[in-house]
Amino acid sequence: MALWGGRFQAGSSDMFKQVNDSLPFDYVMAAEDMWGSIVWSRALCKAGVLSNDEQQQLESCLTKLKSQAENGELDFSASPEEDIHSFVEAALTQELGDIGRKLHTGRSRNDQVATDFRLWCRSHLDSIRSDCSSVIKALLKVAARHDGAIIPGYTHLQRAQPVYFAHWCLAYVEMFKRDISRIDDLQKRLNQCPLGSGALAGTTFPVDRYEIASELGFDSPCLNSLDAVSDRDFVLELLFNASTSMMHLSRMAEDLIFYNSGEAGFLQLGDSVTSGSSLMPQKKNPDALELMRGKCGRVFGNLQALLVTMKGLPLAYNKDMQEDKEGAIDSVNQWHICLCIAVEVLDSLSLNEERCRLAAQQGYANATELADYLVEKGIPFRTAHDIAGQAVVKAISMNKALEDLSISDLKAVHAEIDDDVYPVLELEAVLNKRNILGGTNKELVTRALYVELERLDKVI
Ligand code: ARG
Repeated sequence: MALWGGRFQAGSSDMFKQVNDSLPFDYVMAAEDMWGSIVWSRALCKAGVLSNDEQQQLESCLTKLKSQAENGELDFSASPEEDIHSFVEAALTQELGDIGRKLHTGRSRNDQVATDFRLWCRSHLDSIRSDCSSVIKALLKVAARHDGAIIPGYTHLQRAQPVYFAHWCLAYVEMFKRDISRIDDLQKRLNQCPLGSGALAGTTFPVDRYEIASELGFDSPCLNSLDAVSDRDFVLELLFNASTSMMHLSRMAEDLIFYNSGEAGFLQLGDSVTSGSSLMPQKKNPDALELMRGKCGRVFGNLQALLVTMKGLPLAYNKDMQEDKEGAIDSVNQWHICLCIAVEVLDSLSLNEERCRLAAQQGYANATELADYLVEKGIPFRTAHDIAGQAVVKAISMNKALEDLSISDLKAVHAEIDDDVYPVLELEAVLNKRNILGGTNKELVTRALYVELERLDKVI
Protein backbone atom coordinates (compact mmCIF):
# COMPACT_ATOMS: atom_id res chain seq x y z
CA MET A 1 0.00 0.00 0.00
CA ALA A 2 1.31 3.45 -0.94
CA LEU A 3 2.52 5.59 1.95
CA TRP A 4 0.63 8.62 0.66
CA GLY A 5 -2.92 7.46 -0.23
CA GLY A 6 -4.99 9.93 1.86
CA ARG A 7 -5.55 12.70 -0.65
CA PHE A 8 -5.94 10.39 -3.69
CA GLN A 9 -9.17 8.94 -5.05
CA ALA A 10 -7.74 6.82 -7.84
CA GLY A 11 -4.83 4.42 -7.79
CA SER A 12 -1.63 4.65 -9.83
CA SER A 13 -1.63 3.49 -13.44
CA ASP A 14 0.56 0.55 -14.38
CA MET A 15 2.69 2.80 -16.52
CA PHE A 16 3.09 5.30 -13.65
CA LYS A 17 4.22 2.46 -11.42
CA GLN A 18 6.78 1.44 -14.02
CA VAL A 19 8.34 4.87 -14.11
CA ASN A 20 7.95 5.61 -10.40
CA ASP A 21 8.79 2.41 -8.55
CA SER A 22 12.34 2.05 -7.32
CA LEU A 23 11.96 -1.20 -5.35
CA PRO A 24 13.30 -3.24 -8.32
CA PHE A 25 16.70 -1.64 -7.70
CA ASP A 26 16.69 0.09 -4.30
CA TYR A 27 16.01 -3.22 -2.51
CA VAL A 28 19.83 -3.45 -2.33
CA MET A 29 19.63 -0.91 0.51
CA ALA A 30 17.23 -3.07 2.54
CA ALA A 31 19.66 -3.77 5.40
CA GLU A 32 20.70 -0.10 5.57
CA ASP A 33 17.05 1.00 5.61
CA MET A 34 16.29 -1.36 8.48
CA TRP A 35 19.36 -0.30 10.47
CA GLY A 36 18.39 3.35 10.01
CA SER A 37 14.87 2.51 11.18
CA ILE A 38 16.13 0.74 14.29
CA VAL A 39 18.13 3.83 15.25
CA TRP A 40 15.19 6.10 14.40
CA SER A 41 12.88 4.05 16.62
CA ARG A 42 15.32 4.47 19.51
CA ALA A 43 15.43 8.22 18.91
CA LEU A 44 11.62 8.39 18.85
CA CYS A 45 11.47 6.45 22.09
CA LYS A 46 13.88 8.83 23.79
CA ALA A 47 11.84 11.73 22.43
CA GLY A 48 8.74 10.26 24.08
CA VAL A 49 6.94 9.36 20.83
CA LEU A 50 7.17 5.59 21.29
CA SER A 51 6.86 3.63 24.53
CA ASN A 52 9.69 1.29 25.50
CA ASP A 53 7.53 -1.67 24.65
CA GLU A 54 6.62 -0.29 21.22
CA GLN A 55 10.24 0.48 20.46
CA GLN A 56 11.33 -3.00 21.50
CA GLN A 57 8.71 -4.64 19.30
CA LEU A 58 9.82 -2.49 16.36
CA GLU A 59 13.49 -3.18 16.99
CA SER A 60 13.07 -6.92 17.24
CA CYS A 61 10.94 -7.07 14.09
CA LEU A 62 13.43 -4.86 12.21
CA THR A 63 16.36 -6.95 13.45
CA LYS A 64 14.67 -10.10 12.19
CA LEU A 65 13.93 -8.47 8.82
CA LYS A 66 17.51 -7.21 8.59
CA SER A 67 19.01 -10.63 9.05
CA GLN A 68 16.54 -12.03 6.49
CA ALA A 69 17.60 -9.29 4.06
CA GLU A 70 21.28 -10.00 4.68
CA ASN A 71 20.74 -13.70 4.08
CA GLY A 72 18.82 -13.07 0.85
CA GLU A 73 15.61 -14.50 2.32
CA LEU A 74 13.25 -11.65 1.41
CA ASP A 75 11.35 -11.76 -1.87
CA PHE A 76 11.18 -8.20 -3.17
CA SER A 77 10.04 -9.10 -6.67
CA ALA A 78 6.55 -10.13 -5.58
CA SER A 79 5.90 -6.94 -3.62
CA PRO A 80 3.54 -4.20 -4.90
CA GLU A 81 5.37 -1.57 -2.78
CA GLU A 82 7.00 1.34 -4.61
CA ASP A 83 10.33 1.48 -2.85
CA ILE A 84 12.39 -0.14 -0.12
CA HIS A 85 11.12 2.32 2.51
CA SER A 86 7.47 1.43 1.79
CA PHE A 87 8.40 -2.25 1.67
CA VAL A 88 9.90 -2.16 5.17
CA GLU A 89 7.02 -0.14 6.61
CA ALA A 90 4.50 -2.54 5.04
CA ALA A 91 6.35 -5.54 6.51
CA LEU A 92 6.35 -3.91 9.97
CA THR A 93 2.70 -2.98 9.80
CA GLN A 94 1.72 -6.45 8.70
CA GLU A 95 3.53 -7.85 11.72
CA LEU A 96 2.83 -5.16 14.36
CA GLY A 97 -0.25 -3.27 13.12
CA ASP A 98 -0.47 0.30 14.44
CA ILE A 99 2.98 0.15 16.05
CA GLY A 100 4.43 -0.24 12.56
CA ARG A 101 2.41 2.80 11.49
CA LYS A 102 4.10 4.93 14.16
CA LEU A 103 7.68 4.51 12.96
CA HIS A 104 7.56 7.17 10.26
CA THR A 105 6.75 9.92 12.80
CA GLY A 106 8.94 12.97 12.18
CA ARG A 107 10.75 11.28 9.33
CA SER A 108 10.47 11.57 5.55
CA ARG A 109 11.60 9.24 2.83
CA ASN A 110 13.73 12.19 1.76
CA ASP A 111 16.03 12.11 4.79
CA GLN A 112 15.63 8.34 4.93
CA VAL A 113 16.82 7.67 1.37
CA ALA A 114 19.71 10.12 1.73
CA THR A 115 20.80 8.26 4.88
CA ASP A 116 20.34 4.78 3.44
CA PHE A 117 22.29 5.57 0.31
CA ARG A 118 25.17 7.10 2.25
CA LEU A 119 25.34 3.93 4.36
CA TRP A 120 25.23 1.79 1.22
CA CYS A 121 28.01 3.81 -0.47
CA ARG A 122 30.12 3.76 2.69
CA SER A 123 30.14 0.00 3.05
CA HIS A 124 30.61 -0.65 -0.67
CA LEU A 125 33.51 1.81 -0.80
CA ASP A 126 35.09 -0.12 2.08
CA SER A 127 35.06 -3.31 0.07
CA ILE A 128 36.20 -1.57 -3.13
CA ARG A 129 39.09 -0.17 -1.12
CA SER A 130 40.19 -3.66 -0.23
CA ASP A 131 39.73 -4.76 -3.89
CA CYS A 132 42.16 -1.96 -4.86
CA SER A 133 44.64 -3.25 -2.28
CA SER A 134 44.35 -6.72 -3.81
CA VAL A 135 45.23 -5.31 -7.24
CA ILE A 136 48.25 -3.57 -5.71
CA LYS A 137 49.27 -6.84 -4.09
CA ALA A 138 48.90 -8.73 -7.38
CA LEU A 139 51.03 -6.10 -9.18
CA LEU A 140 53.75 -6.42 -6.55
CA LYS A 141 53.62 -10.21 -6.75
CA VAL A 142 54.00 -10.31 -10.52
CA ALA A 143 56.79 -7.71 -10.32
CA ALA A 144 58.65 -9.85 -7.78
CA ARG A 145 58.08 -12.98 -9.93
CA HIS A 146 59.81 -11.26 -12.83
CA ASP A 147 62.36 -9.26 -10.86
CA GLY A 148 65.08 -8.05 -13.23
CA ALA A 149 63.00 -8.47 -16.41
CA ILE A 150 63.34 -5.59 -18.87
CA ILE A 151 60.68 -4.36 -21.30
CA PRO A 152 60.74 -1.52 -23.78
CA GLY A 153 59.18 1.67 -22.43
CA TYR A 154 57.06 3.52 -24.99
CA THR A 155 56.02 7.02 -25.88
CA HIS A 156 53.65 7.45 -28.82
CA LEU A 157 53.67 3.63 -28.84
CA GLN A 158 57.21 3.87 -30.27
CA ARG A 159 60.01 2.19 -28.34
CA ALA A 160 61.52 4.99 -26.29
CA GLN A 161 63.74 3.82 -23.41
CA PRO A 162 63.97 0.47 -21.63
CA VAL A 163 62.39 0.02 -18.19
CA TYR A 164 62.26 -2.83 -15.72
CA PHE A 165 58.95 -4.69 -15.84
CA ALA A 166 58.75 -4.05 -12.07
CA HIS A 167 58.93 -0.32 -12.82
CA TRP A 168 55.89 -0.66 -15.08
CA CYS A 169 54.06 -2.57 -12.30
CA LEU A 170 54.98 0.09 -9.75
CA ALA A 171 53.59 2.82 -12.00
CA TYR A 172 50.14 1.20 -11.72
CA VAL A 173 50.67 0.67 -7.99
CA GLU A 174 50.96 4.46 -7.66
CA MET A 175 47.68 4.92 -9.55
CA PHE A 176 45.77 2.43 -7.39
CA LYS A 177 47.25 4.02 -4.25
CA ARG A 178 45.77 7.32 -5.41
CA ASP A 179 42.43 5.61 -6.07
CA ILE A 180 42.48 4.41 -2.47
CA SER A 181 43.31 7.86 -1.16
CA ARG A 182 40.43 9.29 -3.20
CA ILE A 183 38.12 6.75 -1.55
CA ASP A 184 39.42 7.80 1.87
CA ASP A 185 38.79 11.47 1.08
CA LEU A 186 35.27 10.71 -0.07
CA GLN A 187 34.52 8.63 3.01
CA LYS A 188 35.27 11.67 5.19
CA ARG A 189 32.89 13.96 3.29
CA LEU A 190 30.25 11.27 2.92
CA ASN A 191 30.13 10.38 6.58
CA GLN A 192 27.53 12.90 7.76
CA CYS A 193 24.04 11.87 8.72
CA PRO A 194 20.94 13.37 7.05
CA LEU A 195 18.42 11.59 9.34
CA GLY A 196 16.37 14.09 11.34
CA SER A 197 16.19 16.56 8.44
CA GLY A 198 12.60 15.52 7.68
CA ALA A 199 11.21 16.24 4.23
CA LEU A 200 13.29 19.40 3.89
CA ALA A 201 12.88 21.63 6.94
CA GLY A 202 13.88 19.48 9.91
CA THR A 203 11.58 17.71 12.34
CA THR A 204 9.38 18.97 15.19
CA PHE A 205 10.08 15.94 17.40
CA PRO A 206 12.99 16.39 19.84
CA VAL A 207 15.27 13.62 18.55
CA ASP A 208 18.98 13.77 19.29
CA ARG A 209 20.58 14.08 15.87
CA TYR A 210 24.11 13.69 17.27
CA GLU A 211 23.18 10.40 18.89
CA ILE A 212 21.43 9.17 15.72
CA ALA A 213 24.52 10.03 13.68
CA SER A 214 26.89 8.29 16.03
CA GLU A 215 24.74 5.14 16.36
CA LEU A 216 24.82 4.81 12.57
CA GLY A 217 28.60 5.24 12.53
CA PHE A 218 28.54 8.75 11.05
CA ASP A 219 31.04 11.37 12.20
CA SER A 220 28.36 14.02 12.65
CA PRO A 221 24.87 15.05 11.53
CA CYS A 222 24.45 17.09 8.30
CA LEU A 223 24.18 20.73 9.34
CA ASN A 224 21.47 22.03 7.01
CA SER A 225 18.20 20.18 6.44
CA LEU A 226 17.70 21.50 2.88
CA ASP A 227 21.20 20.45 1.88
CA ALA A 228 20.93 17.13 3.71
CA VAL A 229 18.01 15.89 1.62
CA SER A 230 19.21 17.41 -1.68
CA ASP A 231 22.90 16.60 -1.68
CA ARG A 232 24.04 13.87 -4.04
CA ASP A 233 27.68 15.05 -4.24
CA PHE A 234 28.73 11.85 -2.54
CA VAL A 235 27.23 9.78 -5.36
CA LEU A 236 28.89 11.97 -7.97
CA GLU A 237 32.23 11.65 -6.20
CA LEU A 238 31.79 7.91 -6.00
CA LEU A 239 31.05 7.83 -9.74
CA PHE A 240 34.08 10.00 -10.47
CA ASN A 241 36.29 7.79 -8.30
CA ALA A 242 34.94 4.70 -10.05
CA SER A 243 35.58 6.32 -13.43
CA THR A 244 39.16 7.31 -12.59
CA SER A 245 39.97 3.90 -11.20
CA MET A 246 38.34 2.18 -14.20
CA MET A 247 40.43 4.43 -16.44
CA HIS A 248 43.54 3.14 -14.65
CA LEU A 249 42.36 -0.44 -15.07
CA SER A 250 41.65 0.25 -18.71
CA ARG A 251 45.11 1.67 -19.41
CA MET A 252 46.68 -1.30 -17.66
CA ALA A 253 44.45 -3.61 -19.72
CA GLU A 254 45.45 -1.83 -22.92
CA ASP A 255 49.17 -2.21 -22.11
CA LEU A 256 48.69 -5.90 -21.37
CA ILE A 257 46.59 -6.50 -24.50
CA PHE A 258 49.42 -5.02 -26.53
CA TYR A 259 52.12 -6.98 -24.66
CA ASN A 260 50.05 -10.12 -25.24
CA SER A 261 49.60 -9.48 -28.98
CA GLY A 262 51.23 -11.74 -31.53
CA GLU A 263 53.35 -8.79 -32.63
CA ALA A 264 54.81 -8.04 -29.19
CA GLY A 265 54.62 -11.54 -27.67
CA PHE A 266 55.90 -10.29 -24.33
CA LEU A 267 53.58 -12.35 -22.18
CA GLN A 268 51.06 -15.16 -21.91
CA LEU A 269 47.74 -14.99 -20.09
CA GLY A 270 46.20 -17.92 -18.25
CA ASP A 271 43.45 -20.02 -19.85
CA SER A 272 41.12 -19.04 -17.00
CA VAL A 273 40.94 -15.40 -18.12
CA THR A 274 40.96 -15.80 -21.90
CA SER A 275 38.55 -17.25 -24.41
CA GLY A 276 38.68 -18.93 -27.80
CA SER A 277 37.08 -18.25 -31.14
CA SER A 278 34.08 -20.25 -32.36
CA LEU A 279 35.65 -20.34 -35.81
CA MET A 280 39.43 -20.03 -35.54
CA PRO A 281 40.80 -22.90 -33.46
CA GLN A 282 44.17 -21.23 -32.83
CA LYS A 283 42.77 -18.14 -31.08
CA LYS A 284 43.24 -17.28 -27.41
CA ASN A 285 41.73 -13.87 -26.87
CA PRO A 286 42.34 -11.47 -23.95
CA ASP A 287 38.60 -10.98 -23.27
CA ALA A 288 38.96 -10.21 -19.57
CA LEU A 289 41.28 -7.31 -20.40
CA GLU A 290 39.08 -6.10 -23.24
CA LEU A 291 36.09 -6.03 -20.92
CA MET A 292 38.04 -4.09 -18.27
CA ARG A 293 38.64 -1.57 -21.03
CA GLY A 294 35.15 -1.84 -22.51
CA LYS A 295 33.21 -1.41 -19.28
CA CYS A 296 34.65 2.10 -18.90
CA GLY A 297 31.98 3.25 -21.34
CA ARG A 298 29.05 2.58 -19.03
CA VAL A 299 30.92 3.66 -15.88
CA PHE A 300 31.91 7.03 -17.38
CA GLY A 301 28.37 7.31 -18.77
CA ASN A 302 26.87 6.86 -15.29
CA LEU A 303 28.90 9.83 -14.02
CA GLN A 304 27.80 11.99 -16.93
CA ALA A 305 24.17 10.89 -16.53
CA LEU A 306 23.96 11.92 -12.87
CA LEU A 307 25.75 15.22 -13.45
CA VAL A 308 23.14 16.06 -16.07
CA THR A 309 20.31 14.86 -13.82
CA MET A 310 21.43 17.03 -10.90
CA LYS A 311 22.19 20.13 -12.91
CA GLY A 312 19.41 22.67 -12.53
CA LEU A 313 17.40 20.77 -9.88
CA PRO A 314 15.81 23.27 -7.51
CA LEU A 315 16.10 22.68 -3.76
CA ALA A 316 15.08 20.48 -2.11
CA TYR A 317 14.12 16.88 -3.02
CA ASN A 318 12.86 16.12 -6.54
CA LYS A 319 12.01 12.68 -7.85
CA ASP A 320 14.69 13.10 -10.53
CA MET A 321 17.10 12.24 -7.73
CA GLN A 322 15.82 8.68 -7.60
CA GLU A 323 17.87 8.31 -10.80
CA ASP A 324 21.04 8.42 -8.68
CA LYS A 325 20.86 4.74 -7.80
CA GLU A 326 20.86 2.47 -10.83
CA GLY A 327 23.99 4.04 -12.31
CA ALA A 328 25.84 4.07 -9.01
CA ILE A 329 24.90 0.47 -8.20
CA ASP A 330 25.97 -0.58 -11.69
CA SER A 331 29.26 1.36 -11.49
CA VAL A 332 30.13 -0.13 -8.12
CA ASN A 333 29.35 -3.64 -9.40
CA GLN A 334 31.44 -3.21 -12.54
CA TRP A 335 34.27 -1.56 -10.60
CA HIS A 336 34.31 -4.48 -8.15
CA ILE A 337 34.22 -7.12 -10.91
CA CYS A 338 36.98 -5.42 -12.90
CA LEU A 339 39.27 -5.05 -9.87
CA CYS A 340 38.76 -8.73 -9.05
CA ILE A 341 39.40 -9.90 -12.62
CA ALA A 342 42.51 -7.69 -12.77
CA VAL A 343 43.90 -9.70 -9.85
CA GLU A 344 43.18 -12.97 -11.66
CA VAL A 345 44.81 -11.70 -14.86
CA LEU A 346 47.94 -10.53 -13.03
CA ASP A 347 48.17 -13.79 -11.07
CA SER A 348 47.90 -15.81 -14.29
CA LEU A 349 50.35 -13.76 -16.31
CA SER A 350 53.79 -14.99 -17.27
CA LEU A 351 56.37 -12.84 -18.98
CA ASN A 352 58.48 -14.05 -21.88
CA GLU A 353 61.58 -12.38 -20.43
CA GLU A 354 63.88 -13.23 -23.33
CA ARG A 355 61.55 -11.71 -25.90
CA CYS A 356 61.00 -8.61 -23.77
CA ARG A 357 64.73 -8.10 -23.44
CA LEU A 358 65.25 -8.46 -27.18
CA ALA A 359 62.54 -5.91 -27.88
CA ALA A 360 64.06 -3.52 -25.33
CA GLN A 361 67.40 -3.80 -27.12
CA GLN A 362 65.87 -2.99 -30.47
CA GLY A 363 64.38 0.25 -31.70
CA TYR A 364 67.42 2.38 -30.81
CA ALA A 365 66.17 2.80 -27.25
CA ASN A 366 69.76 3.64 -26.23
CA ALA A 367 70.13 6.65 -28.56
CA THR A 368 69.66 9.05 -25.64
CA GLU A 369 72.68 7.40 -23.97
CA LEU A 370 74.86 8.24 -26.95
CA ALA A 371 73.73 11.88 -26.72
CA ASP A 372 74.35 11.94 -22.93
CA TYR A 373 77.79 10.35 -23.52
CA LEU A 374 78.70 13.19 -25.88
CA VAL A 375 77.42 15.74 -23.37
CA GLU A 376 79.87 14.31 -20.85
CA LYS A 377 82.59 14.95 -23.45
CA GLY A 378 81.64 18.64 -23.37
CA ILE A 379 79.35 18.79 -26.42
CA PRO A 380 76.14 20.85 -25.93
CA PHE A 381 73.09 18.58 -25.63
CA ARG A 382 71.34 19.98 -28.71
CA THR A 383 74.42 19.21 -30.86
CA ALA A 384 74.86 15.83 -29.17
CA HIS A 385 71.19 15.02 -29.92
CA ASP A 386 71.83 15.80 -33.56
CA ILE A 387 74.96 13.63 -33.72
CA ALA A 388 73.19 10.70 -32.04
CA GLY A 389 70.37 11.10 -34.57
CA GLN A 390 72.88 10.82 -37.40
CA ALA A 391 74.34 7.67 -35.81
CA VAL A 392 70.80 6.19 -35.70
CA VAL A 393 70.29 6.97 -39.41
CA LYS A 394 73.59 5.29 -40.20
CA ALA A 395 72.75 2.22 -38.09
CA ILE A 396 69.31 1.92 -39.75
CA SER A 397 70.91 2.10 -43.19
CA MET A 398 73.28 -0.71 -42.20
CA ASN A 399 70.47 -2.66 -40.53
CA LYS A 400 72.39 -2.77 -37.23
CA ALA A 401 71.89 -1.70 -33.61
CA LEU A 402 73.90 1.32 -32.39
CA GLU A 403 76.14 -0.86 -30.25
CA ASP A 404 76.88 -3.11 -33.27
CA LEU A 405 78.39 -0.26 -35.30
CA SER A 406 82.20 -0.48 -35.48
CA ILE A 407 84.25 2.23 -33.84
CA SER A 408 85.29 3.55 -37.26
CA ASP A 409 81.60 3.79 -38.30
CA LEU A 410 80.88 5.71 -35.10
CA LYS A 411 83.94 7.93 -35.48
CA ALA A 412 82.78 8.73 -38.99
CA VAL A 413 79.67 10.24 -37.36
CA HIS A 414 81.71 12.13 -34.76
CA ALA A 415 85.40 12.01 -33.85
CA GLU A 416 84.73 12.34 -30.10
CA ILE A 417 83.16 8.87 -29.97
CA ASP A 418 85.62 6.34 -28.54
CA ASP A 419 85.67 2.69 -27.48
CA ASP A 420 84.38 3.64 -24.03
CA VAL A 421 80.97 4.24 -25.65
CA TYR A 422 80.15 0.51 -25.84
CA PRO A 423 79.58 -0.18 -22.10
CA VAL A 424 77.43 2.99 -22.01
CA LEU A 425 75.15 1.56 -24.69
CA GLU A 426 74.54 -1.75 -22.88
CA LEU A 427 70.96 -2.41 -21.83
CA GLU A 428 71.53 -2.67 -18.05
CA ALA A 429 73.80 0.40 -18.15
CA VAL A 430 71.04 2.41 -19.81
CA LEU A 431 68.63 1.50 -16.98
CA ASN A 432 71.05 1.79 -14.09
CA LYS A 433 72.33 5.19 -15.11
CA ARG A 434 68.94 6.62 -14.18
CA ASN A 435 69.97 6.55 -10.57
CA ILE A 436 67.55 9.25 -9.52
CA LEU A 437 64.45 9.10 -7.33
CA GLY A 438 61.66 7.64 -9.48
CA GLY A 439 64.10 6.39 -12.11
CA THR A 440 64.84 2.94 -13.53
CA ASN A 441 68.04 2.07 -11.65
CA LYS A 442 67.81 -1.59 -10.56
CA GLU A 443 68.51 -0.98 -6.88
CA LEU A 444 66.01 1.85 -6.72
CA VAL A 445 63.29 -0.21 -8.42
CA THR A 446 63.90 -3.19 -6.15
CA ARG A 447 63.86 -0.95 -3.10
CA ALA A 448 60.59 0.67 -4.23
CA LEU A 449 59.11 -2.80 -4.68
CA TYR A 450 60.05 -3.84 -1.16
CA VAL A 451 58.87 -0.58 0.37
CA GLU A 452 55.45 -1.18 -1.20
CA LEU A 453 55.34 -4.83 -0.15
CA GLU A 454 56.12 -3.83 3.42
CA ARG A 455 53.57 -1.00 3.39
CA LEU A 456 50.89 -3.36 2.12
CA ASP A 457 51.67 -5.90 4.84
CA LYS A 458 50.95 -3.17 7.36
CA VAL A 459 47.71 -1.88 5.88
CA ILE A 460 46.09 -5.23 5.05
N1 ARG B 1 12.48 6.17 -3.87
C1 ARG B 1 12.80 7.52 -3.59
C2 ARG B 1 14.23 7.83 -4.03
O1 ARG B 1 14.96 6.94 -4.24
C3 ARG B 1 12.65 7.78 -2.12
C4 ARG B 1 12.33 9.18 -1.77
C5 ARG B 1 10.92 9.49 -2.15
N2 ARG B 1 10.50 10.75 -1.66
C6 ARG B 1 9.41 11.40 -2.10
N3 ARG B 1 9.11 12.51 -1.56
N4 ARG B 1 8.68 10.90 -3.04
O2 ARG B 1 14.60 8.96 -4.19
